[in-house]
Formats: sequence, structure tokens, C-alpha cells
Amino acid sequence: MDPCKVSATLFGLVLSLSLGRHVRGSGRPEAVNIGAVLSYGSPIGKVARTAIEIAVGDVNADPDILAGTRLDLVMEDTNCSPFVGSIGVLKVLAKDTVAIIGPQSSTVAHIISYISSGLRVPLVSFAATDPTLSSLQYPFFVRMQQTDAYQMTAMADLIGYHGWRNVIAVYVDDDYGRNGIYALDNELAKKLSKVYRIALPVGASRAYISDMLQGSKVFGPRVYVVHANVDSGLKIFSIAQELQMITDEYAWLATDWLCTALGASEPNGTNSSLHYLQGIVGLCQHIPQSRRRGAFQARWSELYGKEMVSSELNVYGLYAYDTVWAVARSIDDFLNESGNITFTSTDELVNMKGKLQFDKLRTFAGGQLLLTKLLRQNFTGVIGQVQFDRDRNLKSGIIYEVINIDGALVRKVGYWANLKGLSTTLPEIMYRSGPQNFSISQTLGNITWPGGKGKAPRGWVAATNERPLRIGFPFRVGYVEFVTKVNENHTVEGFCIDVFEAAVKLIPYNIPHQFVSFGDGHSNPSYSDLVNMVSDKVIDAAVGDIAITTVRTAIVDFTQPYVSTGLVVVVPIKDVKSNTWAFLRPFSVIMWCVTVAFFFLIGVVIWLLEHRVNSDFRGSPKRQCVTIFLFSFSTLFQSQQEDTLSTLGRFVMMVWLFLLMVITSSYTASLTSFLTVQQLSTSINGIDCLIASNEPIGYQEGSFARDYMINALNIHRSRLVSLAGPEAYATALRVGPKDGGVAAIVDELPYIELFLQRTSGFGIVGQPFTRSGWGFALPRGSPLPLDLSSAIMKLSENGDLQRIHDKWFCKAGCTPQTAGSSDSDQLHLSNFWGLFLICGIAAVVSLFIFLIRAINQYIRLNKKHKGPAEQSRKGCCQAIYSFFDFIDEKEEAIKNIFKQRKSSSQPQVGIVELT
Ligand SMILES: *[C@@H]1O[C@H](CO)[C@@H](O)[C@H](O)[C@H]1NC(C)=O
Ligand SMILES: *[C@@H]1O[C@H](CO)[C@@H](O)[C@H](O)[C@H]1NC(C)=O
Ligand SMILES: *[C@@H]1O[C@H](CO)[C@@H](O)[C@H](O)[C@H]1NC(C)=O
Ligand SMILES: *[C@@H]1O[C@H](CO)[C@@H](O)[C@H](O)[C@H]1NC(C)=O
Ligand SMILES: *[C@@H]1O[C@H](CO)[C@@H](O)[C@H](O)[C@H]1NC(C)=O
Ligand SMILES: *[C@@H]1O[C@H](CO)[C@@H](O)[C@H](O)[C@H]1NC(C)=O
Ligand SMILES: *[C@@H]1O[C@H](CO)[C@@H](O)[C@H](O)[C@H]1NC(C)=O
Repeated sequence: MDPCKVSATLFGLVLSLSLGRHVRGSGRPEAVNIGAVLSYGSPIGKVARTAIEIAVGDVNADPDILAGTRLDLVMEDTNCSPFVGSIGVLKVLAKDTVAIIGPQSSTVAHIISYISSGLRVPLVSFAATDPTLSSLQYPFFVRMQQTDAYQMTAMADLIGYHGWRNVIAVYVDDDYGRNGIYALDNELAKKLSKVYRIALPVGASRAYISDMLQGSKVFGPRVYVVHANVDSGLKIFSIAQELQMITDEYAWLATDWLCTALGASEPNGTNSSLHYLQGIVGLCQHIPQSRRRGAFQARWSELYGKEMVSSELNVYGLYAYDTVWAVARSIDDFLNESGNITFTSTDELVNMKGKLQFDKLRTFAGGQLLLTKLLRQNFTGVIGQVQFDRDRNLKSGIIYEVINIDGALVRKVGYWANLKGLSTTLPEIMYRSGPQNFSISQTLGNITWPGGKGKAPRGWVAATNERPLRIGFPFRVGYVEFVTKVNENHTVEGFCIDVFEAAVKLIPYNIPHQFVSFGDGHSNPSYSDLVNMVSDKVIDAAVGDIAITTVRTAIVDFTQPYVSTGLVVVVPIKDVKSNTWAFLRPFSVIMWCVTVAFFFLIGVVIWLLEHRVNSDFRGSPKRQCVTIFLFSFSTLFQSQQEDTLSTLGRFVMMVWLFLLMVITSSYTASLTSFLTVQQLSTSINGIDCLIASNEPIGYQEGSFARDYMINALNIHRSRLVSLAGPEAYATALRVGPKDGGVAAIVDELPYIELFLQRTSGFGIVGQPFTRSGWGFALPRGSPLPLDLSSAIMKLSENGDLQRIHDKWFCKAGCTPQTAGSSDSDQLHLSNFWGLFLICGIAAVVSLFIFLIRAINQYIRLNKKHKGPAEQSRKGCCQAIYSFFDFIDEKEEAIKNIFKQRKSSSQPQVGIVELT
């Protein structure tokens, strides 16, 4: 309601006022009027009315306060109606009251606050808890009560304590309900939680409430906060019971109206009419036990016993009692300072003309002073210390009790204190330890939840059988192993689906779900569109090979990645590994010729230089030739038998050895690189090279790689070519950039691994240049990703993830992941096959030559010793035996020569040493 309109209307009523200024009284007046507006019929009003009457009697009987002045009470019934209440207040104000106690209802308080501030009469409420009444808009509203802002903080802590993220608030849509839930929303927003609202009109019918509660089941949360008045609150619970909504799946929380409904000031009693409130948790105001309070309670009980009061005392009775005292004390202070009470007719009201006679409505001249006195009060009442804070609310240790209805028993399971949070110890004791002690662990006693369970309900359901979770998946055309629709029956299968189903099985509760395909079946769908559908709530989740990118995490929540990926560049390669003559590749033909020629040249040169001076280079011409040939080769391994003696020879050797060293190491290095590095058939050796080149780049259709290349790598979109699948990749790469193909393909690693497994002639260049993963997308704020993520972790830890991977991608046997990299470091026999061949042939040929020569020699010797006739008589076998005898003889002879040499050389050494 627009407040301007309200005040205008109400002042419009006051039309015919008597002209002139009326001043009444001088010095301490005989009597002072105070007003009270209450709903006599309500549980709070009944108790408060009696408490106020008792308090006025007590004040008048007390000689220390308002000595000589009587306090007169003017009371009106608001009858729970803002309209009747407003009229009632006007009637009370017409009696020249200096302050008004009440109203109970926040709605009435809002309206009459304008009148009371217009007439400068403080309005002191002991029951209106709407937090917005503290605003500067209502300067004459004083609250002898805590605002619901604290209660809602307590409620938010209670919700946070049980780990619930989303709640449904059921409230009556008036100032009290709406602003209370607004405060709850604020508090829960701090905990990143969310409130779904079910607003009920004042006096909603059972059918209406039933429809709203039934409809709320689709939201998902199963935690309900009921913030209402006593009547509608109990009605909501009885309807929820009828709808089977007070079961072990649900949690129900109630604000302090429930305490009033339970009808006991101390929430510890039993009440057999609680059957439909089983397991409900509520908050109650806590008022510390004190001598004054005990005495007042005893008085009340006495009156109740004598049936002089109609109902048992509740907290509002205590607040109402102290309110009268606070007002009385402030009037006393006021009179002590200003001495008289004066009312003036305001010009605004005087100038209005009309038939309604509101001439008695006058402005309290000392209103501002009385308000100041009231806000400065500091005394001990039945509720404890009475003091007001800057927001004109009661300032005291703000404490709520947490109650739980268990059977016929209302149990107290803990306390909530401002700045302390939840505890099982009495907060009065905690406050003594000082308000700075924040680090108190939050505890609560055992709570019995609806359905009789001791464990708190999970608080939400992902889906119900009537409304299963709608899970979108990409209808892939290429790389269908990941996920695709297999037939018209909408059966979905693939690696991603198997991972999802396995993860869902690990979640401790049931998630009914159905798959919805996305894509036309002719090309791969756009994954960004799929993710947008999740954020737009068209579908409840998306499952598939969805890369987790920053753009996407901004609009949806992802689970933990179940596959780690990155973008890589794929180009055509030439395979050189299986070449038999690979060892020749490091040197060109000319290089080889020159090298070999140099070996001979150096041999000849050294021979020429050494021949005359070095006995090693002499001998038969044949031996010298061998020396020439072998010498330079043996220098290759520094194993030459012959020493160079001449200076020139040594110089040539030095230069030659240096040259040899350089050639050898270059050969080694070149050979290594030839054998280990795959030969690219293009000049592109990484992403930087690819960006710099101006050649077309292929990407997988629907993939985020396109946006990434355009936005992050600044590649012009005209260079990008969309490709459907592995066959298109191979074709485009083979055709090449000049003939309408592509120079390279940029795609995610898992696809490329599958592509390389099936097609040869292509390879990855460089490292993956982005690091990300694939996850399942869920709407923001959904509690599911947490549980799915831990399920994925479990899958990865117990090896199931790898098993699912192998099932889909290693149907024909998988080479281990590392094979590719270790393979390129290994040198195989095939690389050295040529060398081994030469070596083998050389060995065989040498052996052959040796045998030929030996046999030749043997035959010649035999011819000398025996006649040819004898030879022919003996068989072939005999010839072989003789041959071996001959070899033995020869060996013996060589050994003898060696022995002789040794024995003759030793004395020589001795002589040298002697001389
Ligand atoms: C029990 O609770 C009902 C409301 O459910 C209330 O009307 C009644 O007064 C309570 N009885 C007692 C003894 O507190
Ligand atoms: C309330 O109940 C608790 C235990 O349930 C008990 O310790 C306490 O004394 C009771 N308080 C009152 C006032 O009955
Ligand atoms: C009233 O005022 C006088 C001084 O003006 C002061 O001494 C006295 O304490 C006051 N009484 C009260 C109750 O405040
Ligand atoms: C009574 O009130 C009037 C007007 O507010 C003021 O002028 C006068 O001084 C007051 N009298 C005493 C005794 O304080
Ligand atoms: C209020 O009164 C208490 C005791 O009566 C005192 O300790 C406290 O300082 C007072 N506070 C103020 C603000 O005067
Ligand atoms: C709370 O529950 C636990 C286990 O469920 C039990 O050991 C403990 O005694 C209970 N505490 C109370 C106060 O009932
Ligand atoms: C579709 O489902 C029905 C029954 O579930 C089955 O008999 C039929 O073979 C399925 N069609 C295909 C193409 O798989």
C-alpha cells in the first residue's frame, strides 16, 4: 500500500476541528492517558490485555513512580483487522493519550505509525516484529520486542546447520509475512542459499493452501519454513499432513508463532493435540529466568488458578507488562523535566472543514521529548534489562530457543544467540564470556524429524517419478562413441552416458531421469546451445562430452571433469621409422663419398710420410696396402696399432682426428634426430606457427574450439573450416590446404586420440594449449553437481572410469596411453638393419677368405709331403681330419714363437734397467 495515500486519507477524515488552541493543565497533571490497541480475541491479545491492566495497576500503586499522577488506560480492540485497528487508534488518540501501547499486528503498526508520528504520540509495540518498522520512515515507532531480522538470522543458521541449500517459505502475504521472509532471503543469500516463496492471502481457504502446497512439490526443495500467524500456521500444517507432506522426506520449520500456538510460555510441556505437528522444529523467544519474572509468573498462576485471567502467560504478556512500565517511567521523567502536558491543535487539522468530528485529535506538544525519554530508559523489568538501541528496538541479549515436537512432547533442543549461533548451553552463560568469542562450534541436541527419523532429511529431491529429470544429450554424428542416439526408440548410448549412469548409481538416492536428444542427426549440435538450454531451464541437465569453459561456467554449474582434455593441433606426418637404410640418412651421398675418399687419402698421406721412418709402415707391399687402408679407419676409434713418428705425420693426424670428431658427433646427433623425431610434412610445428600461417584450420562442428580460436587466438573466421568427423578429418588433411583441404586440425585430445588410433599418417604437434575437462552441466544452484562430482571421483578412484573408457575406445585392444611417446625414444633393430647386414657380410666374407686361404695352403703343403696317389686313396673324411691336425700344428707353432719372443724380451728390459 502506498503510505502517502494512507496518511492523506486518514487526515482527510479529520475535517471539522474546533478552532483555536486548547491548552490543558499546568504543572504535574492529576492523570495521564495512555492508549492501547489490541486484538482481544487473539492468543497474544488475551494475555497482553490482562498484563497491561495488571501493569497499570502496579504503576498506580507504586509511590516511587508518577507520584501524584494517575495513569489512565484507554483500550480499543483492533479485532485483527487493519481497518478496524486504524479507526480504533483514532478513537484512542482522541482521548489525548500521550503514548499508545500496541498494536500487535505489523500491518496495523504500519498504518497507525503515520498518525502517531503526525500527532507526535509515541507508539510502543510489544508484538509487531516486522523488521521494516525500524526504518526512519516511522520515527515515533518504538519496539519493545526483537525484530524478525534476528529470528530470521536464527532460522538461516538453523538451515545452514543442517546443510540445506534451498528452502520453500510459506507465509501470509502481509507486512509481517512478506518482510519477515524478505529478511530470511537476505540472510540465506549470505549463505548462497535460495528461498522459493509461497505467498498466501490473509485468510486463505483450505483449498487454496492445499493447491499451493501441492504445487510446491515441483520446486525440488523439501525444507519448508512457515512464517504465519497462529491460525493460518496451524491450518497450513494440518493441510500438509493431509497431503502426506509431513513425512521423512520433508523438514518443516516454524517461526515463533508456533510457540504462541502451543500456548505455553515455557516450551517444555506436553500437548496431546500435536499429532499433526510431529517432527516440526520451531523457534521460541527465550527470556532469562529472574527473580522479577518468577514473581510475576507466580502472580499470574495465582490469578489463573482463581480463573481471574483466561489464559496462561506467554512471552508477549511479559513484554506487554514491561512496556507499560517503560512508558510510565518515561512519562515520569518527562513530567520531571517539562512539568506539564500540553496538546495543540495543528493548523493542518484546524483548516480542514467537513462533517466528521475529529476535533479531539490534537498534537502532543511534548511528544518528541517523551520519545527521547522513552528511548533513554534503562531499567530491569520482568524480561530483563530494558534498553533501546538506535533503531528503537529492544536491546538485550537476543536469544531464541530451538524446539522440536516429538510425540506429545515439546522438547527444547538448543539455543540460538545473536553473534553466537546455535548451542546446547544456555546463552546467558555464553554471554558472560564476552561477545567477542565468535569461534563457538555450532551444536544442537538430537532432533526427531517428521516420520520419526533421527537423521535430518536431505532437504531436496532432484526429481520425482511423476516428473523425472530431463537430461539433454548431444545427438552426435561424428565420434559417435562418445554419445549418440542409436535408433528411433530414442535409446541413447556412448561413453558419456555410461559414465553418467555409473555415477548416478553411486548417488545414495534415486534420481528418476529421462534422456532428451539435442541435434538434428545430420550434423553435430552446438554445445553452447545445449548449455544454454540448461541455464534457460528447458532441460534439467546436459550429459555428454561438454567441455568446461569459462563462458559456460558463468551460466551453469559443472560437475568434476570426468575426462581431462585440451586443444591440440593435428597435422599430416611422414613416418621414417621403418626405413632399413635410415643410418645413411644423416649424410648426403656426396658427403658419404667425400668422407670415404678422405679415409683413403689420409691413409695414403700418412703412409707416404711414415713409410721411411716407421717400421710399422713397412713390410711386404701387400701388408703396406692393408696398413694404408686400415690405419685411417682405426683412427676413427683411436685404436690404430701404428704410431706416427714423423712430425708432419703427427700434424696431419691431429687435423684429421679433429675433423673426425666433428663428423662423428654431427652424425650421431643427426641420426638421433632423424630416428626420434617424426617428420612433419608441413612447416607447422605448433599452435603459434599455425596462427602465424595463413592456412585454413579444421575444427569439429559444434565444438567450442571455433569460438576459442576466434576470440582467444584472434584467428580470422574465414580460415576456419567445420568438419564432421574422423573421415572428414583424414580427407581434409590429405587433400591439403592448396586443394581446399586444411593445413591442420584443432580439436580436443580425446577425439584426436581416437582419430589417431584409427588413421595413420597424422600426428599431434606441440603440447595441448588449453587445459580443461568434460563435465555434466546442471543449472546454477542445483545441489546435484556436488553429489555427482563425488560419484565421479569414486568412479575414477575405483578404476571404473578407465574400464568404461576401455570398453568404448579399446574394442580392438588399446595400446597403452604412453606407448606413443616411449616409442619415439626407442631405436629399433630395423634402423640398424643395414649396418648389421654389412657387419655380418664382412664377417662371413672374412671367414670365407680365411678358410679358402687356409685350405689352399694345406693343399699346397700336402702336395709337397705326400704323393698325389696317396691323397686320392684316402677319403674325404680323412682329408678333413688332416686339415684339423694341420691347424693344431700351426697353432702350436705360433704359441712357441710367442713364448720365445717373451723370454728373449725380458732380459732386454733388465739390461735397460741396469744401465
Ligand atoms: C495444545 O495445542 C493446541 C493447538 O494445537 C492449543 O489450542 C491448546 O491450547 C494446547 N493445549 C495446551 C494445554 O497447551
Ligand atoms: C525442560 O525439559 C528439559 C529436558 O527435556 C529439563 O531438563 C528442563 O528442566 C525442563 N524445563 C522445565 C522448565 O520444565
Ligand atoms: C527530577 O528532577 C530533579 C531535578 O530537576 C532531579 O533531582 C530528580 O532526580 C528527578 N527525578 C527523577 C525521578 O528523575
Ligand atoms: C507548560 O507548557 C508550556 C508550553 O509547552 C510551557 O511554556 C510552560 O513553561 C510549561 N510549564 C512548566 C511549569 O514547565
Ligand atoms: C543501564 O543500567 C545498568 C544497571 O542498572 C548499568 O550497568 C548500565 O551502565 C546502564 N546503561 C546505560 C547506557 O546507562
Ligand atoms: C543423541 O543421539 C546419539 C546417537 O544417535 C545418542 O548417542 C545420544 O545419547 C543422543 N543424545 C540425547 C541427548 O538424546
Ligand atoms: C524399440 O523398442 C522395442 C521394445 O522396447 C523393441 O522391440 C524394438 O526392437 C526397438 N527398436 C529398435 C530399432 O531397436
